[in-house]
Amino acid sequence: MSQTDTTQMSSQTQLQVEELPVFVPDLDAMHEYQFVGLNNRDSRSRPFHLLRTTLSKSLKEKNYRLVGITSATPAAGKSFLSMNLAASLAQVADDPIFLVDLDLRRASLAKDIGLVADRGVSDFLNGDVSDLSSMGIRIEGSKLTMFPTKRVSNNTAELVSGKNFDNLIESLRNQTGQSIILFDLPPAFANDDTMLILEKLDSYIMVVDSGKTNRRQVQEMLAMLNPVPCAGTILNRYRGGFGDSYGYGYGASSYKKYYD
Ligand SMILES: Nc1ncnc2c1ncn2[C@@H]1O[C@H](COP(=O)(O)OP(=O)(O)OP(=O)(O)O)[C@@H](O)[C@H]1O
Ligand SMILES: [Mg+2]
Repeated sequence: MSQTDTTQMSSQTQLQVEELPVFVPDLDAMHEYQFVGLNNRDSRSRPFHLLRTTLSKSLKEKNYRLVGITSATPAAGKSFLSMNLAASLAQVADDPIFLVDLDLRRASLAKDIGLVADRGVSDFLNGDVSDLSSMGIRIEGSKLTMFPTKRVSNNTAELVSGKNFDNLIESLRNQTGQSIILFDLPPAFANDDTMLILEKLDSYIMVVDSGKTNRRQVQEMLAMLNPVPCAGTILNRYRGGFGDSYGYGYGASSYKKYYD
């Protein structure tokens, strides 16, 4: 059977989330890794609960399920926010929440929570594995399933524009009984990966690093990613105002809200 045949078959296979390998987050490590969204006793999880409510409402209204998280500048907090937001969403979701690491050059999500993954998204894109169950990891005590990646140092654009990438997205989209799928992406200006990936998703969330990302960068990014809809903005490391003392703010409609 050819590679294409194999992946086409897998895209119709329903993932049995409860049969996936389980990762048990270490509470001390969670603190060290800033992975707080799962732990209600950590006061830093609270702003994520506020974010999840606003975000789920706006995604539901527009029927956006596959949502990328990106930023104009590097180190804006995309991975930190996507992990914690996914964890927070997974605490109240009726159905599994998926989090996919598509920042192939960084591959930071697994590392950020102390997880060592044998296989990941990069293996699917390379054609070395052909089913979601080979790379999905269930986070114990939650409805969160993560798809980590191994680091790829070149040709990432080829990987995210090939047939296997289409199959990956189709496989994820076709899973029944699952609600939101978040994708941790590279910065939009780093290379063309983000643009190529977003062509296949429903929308994106823009992370704005308060004080670092400037108005021009945001406008250029909105223009570059057009016509993919921006589902909202997260103003990270923001002090003073909505979600203030922990440094996150959320704008459900457009960036204008903050910068006009
Ligand atoms: N609001 C925040 N409060 C505390 N720490 C934060 C916050 N936002 C980000 N960080 C920390 O800042 C560092 C950079 O964040 P992160 O790796 O999530 O950025 P990124 O946008 O994914 O970067 P890259 O572009 O390299 O992928 C991490 O150590 C993260 O834990
Ligand atoms: Mg990152």
